[in-house]
Amino acid sequence: MSTKIDFNDRMLSLGLARVSEAAAIASARLIGRGDEKAADQAAVNAMRTQLNLLDIAGVVVIGEGERDEAPMLFIGEEVGTGNGPGVDIALDPLEGTTLTAKDMPNALTVIAMGPRGSMLHAPDVYMDKLAVGPGFREGVVTLEMSPKERVLALAKAKKCKASDITVCILERPRHEEMIEEVRATGASIRLITDGDVAGVMHCAEPGVTGIDMYMGSGGAPEGVLAASALKCMGGQIHGRLMFRNDDEKARARKAGITDLDRIYTRDDMVTDHVIFAATGVTSGSLVAGIKREVGYLTTETILMRSKTGSVRRMTYRNPVS
Ligand code: FBP
Repeated sequence: MSTKIDFNDRMLSLGLARVSEAAAIASARLIGRGDEKAADQAAVNAMRTQLNLLDIAGVVVIGEGERDEAPMLFIGEEVGTGNGPGVDIALDPLEGTTLTAKDMPNALTVIAMGPRGSMLHAPDVYMDKLAVGPGFREGVVTLEMSPKERVLALAKAKKCKASDITVCILERPRHEEMIEEVRATGASIRLITDGDVAGVMHCAEPGVTGIDMYMGSGGAPEGVLAASALKCMGGQIHGRLMFRNDDEKARARKAGITDLDRIYTRDDMVTDHVIFAATGVTSGSLVAGIKREVGYLTTETILMRSKTGSVRRMTYRNPVS
């Protein structure tokens, strides 16, 4: 095992797409079956098996949970053959387990990889998030601004009216005030029931998705995955960890975080070049969901490299028995 081998992102990227595809294909038979756990487990098993075929000395930094609660793809698990570069891996084998169980839009399998030490070891707590797409000056909107100020600042930067802005927010009771304040500006809101990695990624392609900005709290691990995606697609994300009790603070300290109030930018969460792959499970506006036909499953994967800014969309027709 060596950490001195170069992180050859170009060669590894196609392997990463296979990992993501395999997880999606495994969860296909569980779409719309009402069983979140089974769908997640199928994706986890397949992702792990495929990941272990890659010539990397990988460590899962964003995974299924702490070792005592996640038997597979737990944080700290070593993956890959061990014959290759030392890499950090952030993954969510099924981002949107409920979306999958209910066959609702934008469930994805997601994985990102970067050189060892390149990713924030975010504990499994909430993160307050704010994201916009590419083309704006850094800090055009900030977490310190109120939701109203963010809408007005973005509208000014886009040279449009507040009513031309669409904000994506997770529909949760904790976001009720935020939703009211954003609506009072005249902006439109796309409420999503789950899946904020996709929610943030939507900001990077507003012309396709109709979404200009993402705000609200969701999982911190998903924040690092979203930061990896925006590192490739362009765009800004700011995140601040949120703690509900001392146990959560202890988790953060265990992960090496000393400043619990820190606001992380995209490049603080992901400090080096990464590769990112996501495969659509259910229908979505960024990638198509799995198409099921007799004898075949067809998937669409978005595969990106931050070094070059390249974005590939790959269709894979997989014969199934
Ligand atoms: P799962 O795929 O693990 O179910 O997570 C879905 C999700 O919606 C994330 O996208 C989001 O970050 C988080 O859950 C929000 O958490 P909560 O449901 O507690 O508000």
